Amino acid sequence: MKKVSHFIYSLSAAMVVSVVVGLPGAAQAAEKKAGADKVLLPITVSPYTKRPQENAKAVAEGRAIYARACIYCHGVEAKGDGPVAFYLSRDTAPRPRDLTSGVFKFRSTASGELPQDEDIFRTISRGVVGYMPGFEGMAPSDRWKLVYYIKSLVPDFKEIEDPDIIKMVGTPLPSNSVSINKGYKVYQDFKCWECHGGGGRGDGKKAPELKDDWGFPLPPRDLSRLSAYKNGGESEDIYRTIMAGFDGGAMPSFADFFDGNEEDVWHLVNYIRSLSE
Ligand code: HEC
Ligand code: HEC
Repeated sequence: MKKVSHFIYSLSAAMVVSVVVGLPGAAQAAEKKAGADKVLLPITVSPYTKRPQENAKAVAEGRAIYARACIYCHGVEAKGDGPVAFYLSRDTAPRPRDLTSGVFKFRSTASGELPQDEDIFRTISRGVVGYMPGFEGMAPSDRWKLVYYIKSLVPDFKEIEDPDIIKMVGTPLPSNSVSINKGYKVYQDFKCWECHGGGGRGDGKKAPELKDDWGFPLPPRDLSRLSAYKNGGESEDIYRTIMAGFDGGAMPSFADFFDGNEEDVWHLVNYIRSLSE
């Protein structure tokens, strides 16, 4: 018992460190140079240009790394039932993901689709603030092997021929009061407040009844706490969140609604980011 609580303590300490350290801007810029312009949505944690071959050997090596770094949360069979899962979230979402379920929150692909490899790589690198440590300290080639192992758990990954990638149309707009006001109007029109509340504090009228796909209560994000965003707080990250939604996680995808009106999304992003200032 004592051992477990000590373990959790050091685990949360590791998370605090990864949150505080964040993603250094210079490294991000360097990674962008390394090939981010080749993908349609910004995937700022890379370098994807140099990755090991995806083959049975790499999958087996990924499995070994998984056993060392992930098993205590995600479980021996990767079903999200490791010993720490119980302590992390006994009654509320999120549990560590059942990695065999084929359900992914953090995607740059359409809702219901599997993520791109780079999405999984980004999740492993950055972690999920408050719930899963980031593994940027791990060699990129090892992180790629983990990606391959995770893909090996879901046979449908082999079937993907033409991934349905959400395109990033346009770039972040300068944030000024005109844009923020436009964004506020979009927030109203698209009823984000039903869940996130009028002031974005996560206290909308639907908030108490929201659950994730596994039946655990899942509160909407308090949008005024940018540092608590699971999917990143940069403008491009928030664009990706709004367009792709979080499968399994009650945050809907709005890609169909904004098709052709992507500029509105960038105004909305400015409004959302203004809540944290
Ligand atoms: C401290 C516990 C913990 C550890 C350690 C951990 N995870 Fe997680 N992981 C979680 C939780 C909790 C979630 C669910 C987050 C959510 O749904 O918001 C998650 C989600 C994920 C997801 C799903 C992402 C998505 O798009 O839905 C992947 C993939 C993943 N983890 C991979 C890994 C890998 C690989 C490792 C080891 C290198 C690892 N995790 C270590 C707790 C952990
Ligand atoms: C049906 C309820 C619901 C609606 C409507 C909704 N959201 Fe969400 N949203 C959620 C929930 C729940 C989460 C947290 C999901 C999680 O933690 O896994 C979330 C998370 C988010 C996040 C944080 C993502 C992160 O990285 O942590 C942003 C940003 C966001 N929503 C923006 C919006 C915007 C903008 C709209 C309107 C266009 C909207 N949401 C509409 C339920 C909703």
